[in-house]
This record gives sequence, C-alpha cells and structure tokens, in this order.
Amino acid sequence: MIVAVPKEIAPGERRVAVVPETVARLVKSGTEVVVQAGAGLAAGYRDGDYEQAGARVVADAAALYGSADVVLKIEKPRRNEETGQDELELLKPGSVLIAMLDPLRNEDLVRRLAERHITSFSMDAIPRITRAQSMDVLSSQASIAGYKAVLLAANALPRLFPMMTTAAGTIRPAKVFVLGAGVAGLQAIATAKRLGAVVEAFDVRAVTKEQVESLGARFVHIDLEEDAETAGGYAKEVSEETHRREQELIHRHAREADVIITTAQIPGKPAPRLITEAMVKDMKEGSVIVDVAAPTGGNCELTELGRDVVKHGVTIIGPANLPAMVPYHASQMYSRNIVTFFETLVKDGKVVTDLADEVVKSCLVTDGGRVVFPPLQAKNG
Ligand code: NAI
Repeated sequence: MIVAVPKEIAPGERRVAVVPETVARLVKSGTEVVVQAGAGLAAGYRDGDYEQAGARVVADAAALYGSADVVLKIEKPRRNEETGQDELELLKPGSVLIAMLDPLRNEDLVRRLAERHITSFSMDAIPRITRAQSMDVLSSQASIAGYKAVLLAANALPRLFPMMTTAAGTIRPAKVFVLGAGVAGLQAIATAKRLGAVVEAFDVRAVTKEQVESLGARFVHIDLEEDAETAGGYAKEVSEETHRREQELIHRHAREADVIITTAQIPGKPAPRLITEAMVKDMKEGSVIVDVAAPTGGNCELTELGRDVVKHGVTIIGPANLPAMVPYHASQMYSRNIVTFFETLVKDGKVVTDLADEVVKSCLVTDGGRVVFPPLQAKNG
C-alpha cells in the first residue's frame, strides 16, 4: 500500500500532514510512503529528513497522487492557482483521502468526491470519546490556536503583560478576558497566566468554571436558566434572554479589559456574535481583541477574516489559520493524530471501512460512490 503526503497548497498553509518521525512509524509497519518535495519545508522538515525516515520524495504532484492508494492531507482538495491542477482531479478513483474536509460546509466538494469514487474520511469529525483522544485534531490544533492567539495579542498590545516592579516604578499587569473556555480558551488562559496577566473567563457551559479556576483564572458568571451543554459535551445555541444577559456581562468586563480572546463556537453553526460595535467603542484605547473564531464567522461583529484592523482605537485581529502560524508543532501533533487514525483503518495491509467502529463511522464521508456522512444524511434527509 502506498501512502502519499502532498505539499499543501492553500494560501498561508504552512503545515504538513505527516512529519518524518511518523513516516518512520509507517515504514516500520510495512507501508510505502511517498512525500512531495518541499512538503515539510515551511514547517521545518527537510526532504532529507523524510528520506532518512524511509520515504521516497517525488517532485511532481500529479505523479504523487497518481501512485497513491491513500492520501494524507491537512486541507481539503483545491485548485492550484499556479499550475491550474485541481487536487481533486489528481486523486485516483478508488483511492482513499484523509483530511480536514469540514463536510457540512463543503457539500459540493463531498458530492464531487463521491462522483470520483474516492473513499474519504474527515479528521474534524473524530468523535470526542476517550478512545479517540489520540486522533483528535480539533483538540490538538485548538490548543495551538489558543496559545498563539495570546502571543499575537501580547505583540499588538502597547502595554506589558506581567506586573513589573522596577526602579522606574511598578507596572500593573494586563487584564485578559477569555470568552469560551473549550480547548482553545483553556490554552489561552494558561498562556496568558504564564505571561503574567490577570485573567478572567466566561463560558455558557457551567462545567468550565472549575477548569478555568484550576488554571488560576477568575470565572465570571451569570445565573443561567438553561444548561447550554449538549449530551455530547458541546455548547448549543442559547436562548435570546440568555444571549442578552451574556452580552451585558461581556460589555461590563470588556470596558476593563486590555485584551479579549474570543474562542466561542457552536459545532456546525456560525460562531455566536458576542462582541458588538458598541462594546468595542467602550473598550480602552489601544486594547486588543483576537478573534479565534474568525474562520467560522467571528465572535466580534467588527472582525475581518485574515486581517488586523483598528476600529475605535481597538486592534481587532481575525486570524485565518492560527495553527499554521506554529507549523512545526502543529504538524507534529496533526501527524500523530492522522497516522493513529490511519492505523485503525488498516487490516492485513488494506484500508477497511469497519462501520461497526464508532470512530470510523463518524468520520467516513464518502464510500462506494455515495455520500455517507451521518450529519449530512440527517441534514438532507
Ligand atoms: P468548541 O471549539 O466547539 O467551542 C469553544 C467553547 O465555546 C466551548 O467551551 C463552548 O462552550 C463555548 N461557547 C459556545 N457558545 C458560547 C457562548 N455563547 N458564550 C460563551 N462561550 C460559548 O469547543 P471545544 O474546545 O472543541 O470543546 C468542546 C467540548 O468537547 C468540551 O466539553 C470539551 O471538554 C470536550 N472535549 C472532549 C474531548 C474528549 O473527550 N476526547 C477532547 C476535546 C474536547
């Protein structure tokens, strides 16, 4: 079986799906690995490192895809604007694609994958169960996003983060307010604390209070009439009344904050709008918002995807791809996740789609020329 690792072509994407360390693991188990020349370079991995790990390096994308039984990728297939080649058309009919496909937001791509008889799995659909934690790319990449978001904020802020007692006087620590205390939010809290800031956080899921406090931050709360947590542990959309009260709370705390990091998400839905223009107007001159939810629509109504803008004296940063800004470790973690998932699929040297396995069933998007992704089937009847 030949497993191929192409060079990612999405603008700003610096990660690679498999790093040399995990290539060695694949090769040891008898898999042939082909890597496109330069695939890991932007993340800090040289072609020579891949060769040393036992991979074959090929220059041409068409040759790579053409030889592959399985393609391991980060981003969904797209057209290469430089060469005019479409990655989807390079995939060999009958081959297997594993990548972050975000199927609910890319129905057209999913349909085309089915038409080309590609068996596809989406890494962003790995269920949040204990057994699948080592394959959970949403968590590994969200941790990196939360960390990097705080560094971007610290860089843009005209103040220091830590308290400093110096001969030139005492500097008060920065106040950081984190909205959404999931994986990214908790990592943002931990990072801001390490830099010496005073940190407050809010989430609509009551269980996060203890997690926030265990990191040494203050949990600010309103008494919610509803429990905004689903049985699966995710947040759901809150009622209008809860939303109104939540916004009042955010408005109060935004006035005092030097930095706001927003990470609130509702799976499969646009990000909830938590920060209005009126709140931004009331923030301090020079303060900073980093909107980690920018790719799904943003938590702040003034966020512009992929841009840093200054509105009413507040710098609003809307990063399009935070994990790609820390490509070495983001790739290393993704690589461990995707290869662990791939290994669960392989039986006697072949990929087997065992629908009795909850992890496989949850991630399988197209198979045998059909769209089989359960959330898409539910959505479209
Ligand atoms: P996420 O990225 O979907 O959302 C981020 C956070 O935003 C969540 O904590 C959510 O409650 C919060 N949020 C949503 N609407 C909000 C609003 N209106 N105001 C304030 N906050 C709002 O979440 P993530 O980080 O993917 O984690 C979601 C859940 O999955 C958590 O319960 C987490 O513990 C669980 N999880 C379980 C894992 C496992 O067992 N393998 C691994 C990772 C996460």
